[in-house]
Amino acid sequence: MCGIIGYNGMSNAENILIKGLKNLEYRGYDSSGVALMNEDKIHIVKSEGRLAFLEQKLKSKNILSDMGIGHTRWATHGKPNEANAHPHTSQDRKFTVVHNGIIENFPIIRKELEKKGYKFCSETDTEVIPQLLSYHYHGDIKDAMQKTFVSLEGSFAAAILCKDDKDTIYVAKKASPLAVGRGNRENFISSDVGAIAEYAEEAVFLDDGEFAEIRKDRISFFDFNLKEKEKEFLKIAITPEDLTKGKYEHFMLKEIYEQPEKIKNLLKSKIKNNKIFLDEIAELSLEIMKAEKIYIVACGSAYHAGLAGKIAIEEMCRIPVEVDIASEFRYRNPPVNEKTPVIIISQSGETADSIAALRLANSKGSFVIGIVNVLPSTIANESDYVIPTKAGREIAVATTKGYLTQVCALYMLALHIADIRKTLTDESIRFYTEELLQIPDKISEILSDTSEIKTLSQKYSCKNDFFFIGRNTDFAVASEASLKLKEISYINSSAYPAGELKHGTIALIEKDTPVFALCANERLFKKTLSNIEEVISRGADVLCISQKGQIDKEKYNALEIPHCTDIFLPLLEIIPMQLFAYFVAENKGCNIDMPKNLAKSVTVE
Ligand code: G6P
Repeated sequence: MCGIIGYNGMSNAENILIKGLKNLEYRGYDSSGVALMNEDKIHIVKSEGRLAFLEQKLKSKNILSDMGIGHTRWATHGKPNEANAHPHTSQDRKFTVVHNGIIENFPIIRKELEKKGYKFCSETDTEVIPQLLSYHYHGDIKDAMQKTFVSLEGSFAAAILCKDDKDTIYVAKKASPLAVGRGNRENFISSDVGAIAEYAEEAVFLDDGEFAEIRKDRISFFDFNLKEKEKEFLKIAITPEDLTKGKYEHFMLKEIYEQPEKIKNLLKSKIKNNKIFLDEIAELSLEIMKAEKIYIVACGSAYHAGLAGKIAIEEMCRIPVEVDIASEFRYRNPPVNEKTPVIIISQSGETADSIAALRLANSKGSFVIGIVNVLPSTIANESDYVIPTKAGREIAVATTKGYLTQVCALYMLALHIADIRKTLTDESIRFYTEELLQIPDKISEILSDTSEIKTLSQKYSCKNDFFFIGRNTDFAVASEASLKLKEISYINSSAYPAGELKHGTIALIEKDTPVFALCANERLFKKTLSNIEEVISRGADVLCISQKGQIDKEKYNALEIPHCTDIFLPLLEIIPMQLFAYFVAENKGCNIDMPKNLAKSVTVE
């Protein structure tokens, strides 16, 4: 997804902007550009394709500047070419803008401006912003900003340079994230706080309907009525190690290997008297007692984490749970109210559909618990209560540790709620807590020897269509395993509840169709085994994923994982599946950390 970076300080802006854009690369992009202010003018340099092309162009121009803005574009309106790349300027070259989000009423604005004689050079929605700024500008930049941004529908995080003010970057924000970072006589902006973490000491996110003026030694905030506001800066909690691959070939592999430690730290921080206690939601006991149903709402892998969470919450807390895809939930008029808490799960905290779902739930009186990794972020800021997943910065587009910590946080939440509602005995809570505490070592055991998975990946890399089947917890994992394979190796695959296959989809099974049968769930093992037989008899090439000693390895191809109580199986069973997807993508020479067409944080709906 698009990324914004901005710098105003004493150093060479070009270097800092390029570094910032590199930090944003992982989000996915197809073109990039910068605008650098110096004494003569605003210099704009743009390029299609990789950032290295932009870097080369900039080097040859040798522009001296200590203030500028930059952008990586992920095409929405208009092809990914140089003309459509940001920054965009007004016809009179007064205003230069980079923008994330979508201006929904841009066709009407563009038509009106064209009638007034304005000429447009791109197909983008963004170009209406500098043109409109120029139209409304009569010597007062903030006045022009107010008139422009209140007339825009949709979402925007925009950074603006104006020729008439060579010392300031102006920003505006609605429904698309924008952070302002503060350093020592140098200030920054970014759509992703991680991109400025190595420079800025502290940061604050703009709220919807806010402007900011970024000078070298001063930052001022305003609402859309131009009333000045105070905002509190927070220390940025990202370490330099988070930003490098270390000894690993890819960020994805590094992040897979970080999982035992991340789960261990998450659990340890919440154990009191051999029980899980989530202090973040300590004051929620009354509302939790009254809860009649829980909604879990998320996108992508976070939605799959929700599938695992549903099973645990229903089993342990005896509350019905509905898991919803955020882009569906937000337009469905769901019957949520003060008795239906809504859990929003998001690694980035910035997914547009999840933010919209959160706001809808809030407007209907539900209290919202955000399970979020990136803090601060919009979802963390707007949730009534936040459970941080503490996975650290996740760079690979395909989530691994982000997903796993979400699942773990949901289990912790289930145990916390079960304790409050007394739906589990103290003894059971202790049993589950101890089981959870053993998970990190079991993940390490899987990670300690990946040779079998590597060999399997060689066998399967040439296949085109995969099925992942399973029941209950196994199905929750199958859904995520299938997505991982699709995302990074571009192999078509579907996840199916094993018992549902026979109602149509089994027609697709033929000789050598690869079927990964997740059958580790002890309670349903025999049931899944019948489904395995059904596909084997139709010629499928089946690989079972089972607990150690569970399956007859003479008879079935099986990949074994350490023993674990059924409910927590997703925390283990997904590990070999993440590795499998990784090795297949490696065998196929795919761009593992930045798969085509995908973005780390999807800030448009
Ligand atoms: C994108 C990413 C997925 C992620 C989903 C939800 O599609 O590519 O990996 O699961 O967004 O992201 P979130 O940040 O809300 O967890």
